[in-house]
Amino acid sequence: MADGQRKMKVVVTLNLGPKVMPLLYDHPDLDIVLWPHAGSSGKQWLLDNIPGADGCIVMLFEKVDEEAAGPNLKVVSTMTVGYDHVDVKALTKRRIKLGNTPDVLTEAVADASVMLALMAGRNTKEGTDIVQQGKARTLCWSCLRRPNLQRVCSGQVGHGTLGFIGFGRIAQATLARMVGFGYTRCLYVARSKDPARAADLQQTVKGRHPSLTTVQQVELDQLARESDVLHVLAPGGPETYHIINEEFLKQMKRTAILVNTGRGTLVDSDALAKALREGWLWGAGVDVVEGEPGITADHPLVKEPRCVVIPHIGSATWESRIGMATVAAENLLAGLVGKPMTSEVQL
Ligand code: DGY
Repeated sequence: MADGQRKMKVVVTLNLGPKVMPLLYDHPDLDIVLWPHAGSSGKQWLLDNIPGADGCIVMLFEKVDEEAAGPNLKVVSTMTVGYDHVDVKALTKRRIKLGNTPDVLTEAVADASVMLALMAGRNTKEGTDIVQQGKARTLCWSCLRRPNLQRVCSGQVGHGTLGFIGFGRIAQATLARMVGFGYTRCLYVARSKDPARAADLQQTVKGRHPSLTTVQQVELDQLARESDVLHVLAPGGPETYHIINEEFLKQMKRTAILVNTGRGTLVDSDALAKALREGWLWGAGVDVVEGEPGITADHPLVKEPRCVVIPHIGSATWESRIGMATVAAENLLAGLVGKPMTSEVQL
């Protein structure tokens, strides 16, 4: 740093850990303001500290909007692939760059998507609840010699149609895992309606998975009617808000499984809880719920015996999180000096 030159202030709302924080601390020209506690800071701390900052690293629960986008800000680096918590209009208006962290979490989120499909499909929540209540001896372990043979049974997972809302990297990695269970059809809903692009993608996917007889972009109604397992993996935001609502859920197969590892806002939780209660579909597995992180034990989905709820841990493997932290730090550093980022969102 040249003499007299001001240090660049960067606000970091989450400790990126001992492997990644040195990437920032090794820069003498940075004045780092780090949230000092475990977890991420939330919006208010960001607002209190962002004035005068040149850059920031944020997580999912720190909304970056007009209010947070201070006058000096050059770069927002979010340690997430999704960026529905960032007001892209406000950033575009002020020519602030935005970096995100795709790719490094694809495998982890795809694994979690498959895990939830199996857990929901095979009644895992009811099963573990029965064990925890000490009722397993009568209800499960002895069912083979009692008339309640069917008490814990569910349909076989595999065979039939996989549906996807959103068909990007994570959806395709999920598909790659799920074809191993014997699914032969893949239907998806995607934002782009360009037929040439769809044809290209379908050919690529079929080439990767010769056992698939169908790979087809469809409308929402067909997706609802024909999916045996439906994976919700589209970005959040106003365009996809409550795309899964009562009308959609009513069209689903009674044997179908719904998995949401995208964003909570895509699914109307009350409608899903009602659908599960009334048997419009078989089960659900959700890593994301509208209103998180404030999801308590009396949330309608948490109370549903056929709904497995996990606390947004789809990307929570060491490998993914260190990868995400590294890319977030690299994006910040590059954005501050106007260099190409590892992953820049084209605003
Ligand atoms: C993301 O990166 O958008 C994930 O939802 C965070 O785990």
